[in-house]
Amino acid sequence: MKTLFMLIVSACLILSSFASAEEKGLKDYFQNDFYLGVALGQNFQENEQVVTLVKQHFNILTPENAMKWQPIHPEPDRYDFKAADALVEFAQQNNLKVIGHCLTWHSQTPKWVFENADGTPVSREELLKRMQEHITTVMTRYKGKILGWDVVNEAIKDGDDEVVLRDSPYLKIIGDDYLEYSFRFAKAADPSAELYYNDYSMADPKKRAKALILLKGLLDKGAPIDGVGMQGHWNIYDPPLEEIEKSIIAYHNLGLKVMITELDLSLYKFEDRSNLYPESAPDSMLQVQAEHYAAIFALFKKHSDKITRVTFWGPTDRYSWLNNFPARNRRNYPLLFDREGAPKPAYDAVIKAVE
Ligand code: GLA
Repeated sequence: MKTLFMLIVSACLILSSFASAEEKGLKDYFQNDFYLGVALGQNFQENEQVVTLVKQHFNILTPENAMKWQPIHPEPDRYDFKAADALVEFAQQNNLKVIGHCLTWHSQTPKWVFENADGTPVSREELLKRMQEHITTVMTRYKGKILGWDVVNEAIKDGDDEVVLRDSPYLKIIGDDYLEYSFRFAKAADPSAELYYNDYSMADPKKRAKALILLKGLLDKGAPIDGVGMQGHWNIYDPPLEEIEKSIIAYHNLGLKVMITELDLSLYKFEDRSNLYPESAPDSMLQVQAEHYAAIFALFKKHSDKITRVTFWGPTDRYSWLNNFPARNRRNYPLLFDREGAPKPAYDAVIKAVE
């Protein structure tokens, strides 16, 4: 009797270990390294397959659009929290952390923010007041439910010149201390949330030089900034691994947490608008992509003492913004899961590289 009981117990244990091996997700391979994140649009819950995939592979989410100024605060006296609330609730029910994205950005911000009722530009004082009100209202609503916020997004100017800051309405109206104000308003609104600066091309040497000037300046002024997000909208040709590595090290050396916040690997070079794979991507290209993803994740793993999170910009190829950018309706294949939610060669390559 006792032996039979023992047999049944061991059979159950074996079966359950098979089950958990089967359900192992991407996040589990990095559980001692960094959070594994995904950006989600508001309609993702309509697709049961995506919901399952998100729960299996990720432990943190970023609302793709729902917390941007335009959708969440479309008019001076009107906030619309519906989509953001739903994402935060989904995260809480499923044990995922949440990143808030984003508070101060020149894009996807309504025009009224920068204008008086008669269309003339607002004063510096008025814009600072509007920023503070917006940041305080949004952050207070989700206080205690958000691990960290992208406080300022994409403030750096592109180009070979020496000019650090983008010529945005914030810069024009307030001056270069608008970033410091953003961080201070955010700190006051939710002192326990981490606060980040987030931008693209952060592995480009020229942009890195500008970013280091900006971030060091903020830190010197005592701005409450905890981390820096390298968006990671990369492709299978660019940027070189060495530049990614130099950036991770350089930002870390400032004393900041480093995050890869919007990762995708396009099959096209940045400026390429051709449509070579309208139906499906050839195996040879998926293989090249797999090798790149594997090398990138091996690098992330090597620097896991500096990196706190790696977030993909979308759950599957079907939901990627790159299907509409830079060319509308051009299919792209930038993520680890295909249009049906099945793991691509890149998924297996990443696991193999870090196991
Ligand atoms: C930037 C923003 C994101 C998103 C992408 C494109 O990287 O930070 O919120 O808009 O562009 O989808």
